[in-house]
Amino acid sequence: MTKNKIIVALDVESADEARKLIDELHPEAGAFKIGLQLFLAAGGKFVGELVDRDIKIFLDLKFHDIPHTVANASIEAARLGVWMFNIHALGGSQMIVQTVDAVREFCAKESRDQPLMIGVTVLTSSDDSTLLEIGINEPVDSEVIKLAKLCHSNGLNGIVASPKEIGMVRSAVDDESFLIVTPGIRPDNATNDDQKRVMTATEAVALGADHLVIGRPITRSKNPKETLIRILGELDDSLNRSANH
Ligand code: C5P
Repeated sequence: MTKNKIIVALDVESADEARKLIDELHPEAGAFKIGLQLFLAAGGKFVGELVDRDIKIFLDLKFHDIPHTVANASIEAARLGVWMFNIHALGGSQMIVQTVDAVREFCAKESRDQPLMIGVTVLTSSDDSTLLEIGINEPVDSEVIKLAKLCHSNGLNGIVASPKEIGMVRSAVDDESFLIVTPGIRPDNATNDDQKRVMTATEAVALGADHLVIGRPITRSKNPKETLIRILGELDDSLNRSANH
């Protein structure tokens, strides 16, 4: 089960580089995340190739557009067979509901598994002054809570939340099945790269994260497979410790 918690971010510039990492890290990694860079470089065909190899893909394209466009793009994500994809909560309830309904209907009609649909709240690169700049007079924390509730009440399966936000989202949304996907994970001894709010994998899971997105600490380490296995071992140890308490 621990294995399913880790999503490795494939932040690389070509399908070949991604294949190398996947060949090394699959099946120890629960899933792989494909974002804008790799999607633009390698395309939907590459995503399809991985899905055909039974590899779980989190398509991190953060859709944000008029409801009709986001709903139709989401149907294409479902057609590719991804395990998870995300949309911006800032698109509002109509965009969320239309997307959730369209994907449900498409998957039912085609007898396909429904992908997990995840909301992005406030980007971790934004602070209170960024929100003010775009006319949002709320501090980041209350805006995150407002958007997390909007995602939950309109049928999304979960949200992306930074380590710092896990606790407050868990208290604000009273539903254990609401998934929290958390980036910004760093082993104790690693550098923070450009991540400002970081936590170890064990700390994030203890706070209530369901899935951890980990990129550079694994992909840029000397031995990515060893690093992944070490993090999985730390998670197992701490889950066993809490189960025995
Ligand atoms: O290399 P690192 O572990 O920082 O990678 C984290 C991944 O999670 C990156 O692909 C980044 O785009 C993504 N992400 C993030 N913070 C968010 C949302 C996504 O770091 N709030």
